[in-house]
Amino acid sequence: MKIIHTIAELRTYLTAFKHPTFVPTMGNLHAGHLALVRQAKPLGDAVVVSIFVNRLQFLPHEDFDTYPRTWEADCQALEAAGCDVLFAPSEKELYPVPQGFTIQAPTELANILEGHFRPGFFGGVCTVVMKLFSCVQPHVALFGKKDYQQLMVIRRMVQQFAMPIEIIGGTTQRSDDGLALSSRNTYLSPTERVEAVQLSLALKSMADALRAGETDVMALETRAMQALEARGWKPDYLSVRQRSNLQPPSANELAFLLANSGLVLLGAARVGNTRLIDNLEI
Ligand code: PAJ
Repeated sequence: MKIIHTIAELRTYLTAFKHPTFVPTMGNLHAGHLALVRQAKPLGDAVVVSIFVNRLQFLPHEDFDTYPRTWEADCQALEAAGCDVLFAPSEKELYPVPQGFTIQAPTELANILEGHFRPGFFGGVCTVVMKLFSCVQPHVALFGKKDYQQLMVIRRMVQQFAMPIEIIGGTTQRSDDGLALSSRNTYLSPTERVEAVQLSLALKSMADALRAGETDVMALETRAMQALEARGWKPDYLSVRQRSNLQPPSANELAFLLANSGLVLLGAARVGNTRLIDNLEI
């Protein structure tokens, strides 16, 4: 595995390859990231992974400074997973001057759900992904469904800018108990770690209720949030949305969407100080 820290060296090195595939990450890699690397392997002639903790997508009070940085372990894991090129630019390399040009994601997609609770988040994500795409120039890039809204925002960005990049979504990887793997799981205390699975269970019980004929989506969402609150969680949202655009389903479309795999349940909630997100396509 070739490790590269500068854009210039990356460009030179990648001239030898015709079809690089790309997996952008912020490091602290787990089996979710590595599954994307393995999925990328047969799709081109070199798998490029980036590790860059992107300041632009963190709010001032968020965990940019404490975000887990595990360089040695990440390198070993990437090598074992078949990564060919690890691109790990410093902040000075990727943002040598303050990033004045930025991507503004459309409000109807980027100011809802995650974007509502983390204003500016998707603008920060799009800006760094656009820049990384410009450095790597991949023909395929992979993003996890764990970050469902992020995957959709990136797909739309690539479409609207007519970028010649195929965006592929990877299945969410989970622990045995069902907790979606996340770098932020390392913040959980042992008790919180046991409790954490309740977020995915809450989404499952919402799916069960819809399949059992529940039609009052708002009441269902409120009940699900209250159930988590009763266990000591602080939920931001537990929401039934259309897969196609992440908007709430209208009452008269609900049954059709349910019968045609057109819904996704998305949730974000804090257990202790750790904010977890998850989703379930139904
Ligand atoms: P990060 O959180 O490191 O995630 C990198 C990629 O791994 C994302 O596409 C994410 O959806 C995927 N991923 C995370 N957990 C996963 C899981 N349990 N199963 C499957 N895939 C999973 O997402 C980011 O970084 C950043 O926003 C980034 C796109 C790199 C831009 O800075």
